[in-house]
Amino acid sequence: MKFSKFGQKFTQPTGISQLMDDLGDALKSDQPVNMLGGGNPARIEAVNELFLQTYQALGNDGSFREDINSTATSSMANYSNPQGDAGFIDALVGFFNRHYDWNLTSENIALTNGSQNAFFYLFNLFGGAFIDEKSESVDKSILLPLTPEYIGYSDVHVEGQHFTAVLPHIDEVTHDGEEGFFKYRVDFEALENLPALKEGRIGAICCSRPTNPTGNVLTDEEMAHLAEIAKRYDVPLIIDNAYGMPFPNIIYSDVTLNWDDNTILCFSLSKIGLPGVRTGIIVAAPEVIEAVSAMNAVVNLSPTRFGAAIATPLVANDRIKQLSDNEIKPFYQKQATLAIKLLKEALGDYPLMIHKPEGAIFFWLWFKDLPITTLELYERLKEKGTLIVPSEYFFPGVDVSDYQHAHECIRMSIAADEQTLTDGIRVIGEVVRELYDEAKNK
Ligand SMILES: Cc1ncc(COP(=O)(O)O)c(C=O)c1O
Repeated sequence: MKFSKFGQKFTQPTGISQLMDDLGDALKSDQPVNMLGGGNPARIEAVNELFLQTYQALGNDGSFREDINSTATSSMANYSNPQGDAGFIDALVGFFNRHYDWNLTSENIALTNGSQNAFFYLFNLFGGAFIDEKSESVDKSILLPLTPEYIGYSDVHVEGQHFTAVLPHIDEVTHDGEEGFFKYRVDFEALENLPALKEGRIGAICCSRPTNPTGNVLTDEEMAHLAEIAKRYDVPLIIDNAYGMPFPNIIYSDVTLNWDDNTILCFSLSKIGLPGVRTGIIVAAPEVIEAVSAMNAVVNLSPTRFGAAIATPLVANDRIKQLSDNEIKPFYQKQATLAIKLLKEALGDYPLMIHKPEGAIFFWLWFKDLPITTLELYERLKEKGTLIVPSEYFFPGVDVSDYQHAHECIRMSIAADEQTLTDGIRVIGEVVRELYDEAKNK
């Protein structure tokens, strides 16, 4: 069968498709696997209990009945309009205005089928071929001010790849008074000197905060600087807040979240523990919301209402925030402490550097001068039943062939249970120690 160019682009093997296949196979396998590879959130008892109660209550409140007189705010017996479930959007407007001084209205929010779906829309809206004032075609890209960045961005453009990426400054830092950590910072000098920026070939700036894969949190100063650059060049600043505040609030550094009408904030219900309901939330200027709604109509008719139905009461009564503050964030903080202890025990005397854990559900480990690439390390670990993700996939827009650092890191999830984390880190320790030892004895 022959596929169109579009078809070929989306069916070619990609980093993300290979990864999802490996993770899927591992979950189906009857062999025990130390799954430190995926982006699944942890199963947290109190969280699941609350979702279950909310879900059971839905069965009784009319949500499933096709009853036009029903008072239920999120009837699943009807499509919503393409912007998304109106009851959930109203609850979100109330929620954000209670906790931030953003003065939102329902015209500032659209829903998508997961935030991956939102990035597909946004990166195609702001990246690709544009027609300028002189009726000439200009190719614009999405500026990623700090790579490594989220693997899921890489292949979303309908044609080609449209990223301009900036490599980080790498600072050695301490964490809770301990050595052996580093932190990425935005290289603003390199960014401001990008020809693409100066010549009008950037369509939007985007960062994940906290960052998947590194657990980095861009500082308030970095964000203010990026917002200023975005305004100066008249492009939107897209903030991927999948792990950020106020939900799921997996963020440990003391920072704030700002929004204005040049900012596009993307939220998700996935990392609070509901990745299967595929619900993303975009907060943006009405013009962007209208565009997203129009794309929803073509691609999905209307976004799923299931996540909206579960989340509406939790957003309306702030339980989603309490859950994030009191259960989700402390859970991952505990996991991070455990992971540091295990990693230091396994590799304390070796050249392991850990990215300062500031949020998200991952650790980013840097094995300086590792004798093999982490793509090869990934294969060796897979043979021993431990799955991680090698670093080279996390540099959209970067030619990693001559950037050594991009071959020396791995992403490791800390969402697994204690036993899996312990076993997985033990295997990583054994394999990496052997590699360094062999190289030393050569
Ligand atoms: C940084 C980041 N953004 C977006 C997504 C997409 O999330 P979803 O489509 O489940 O909302 C993920 C998922 O892992 C992520 O890590």
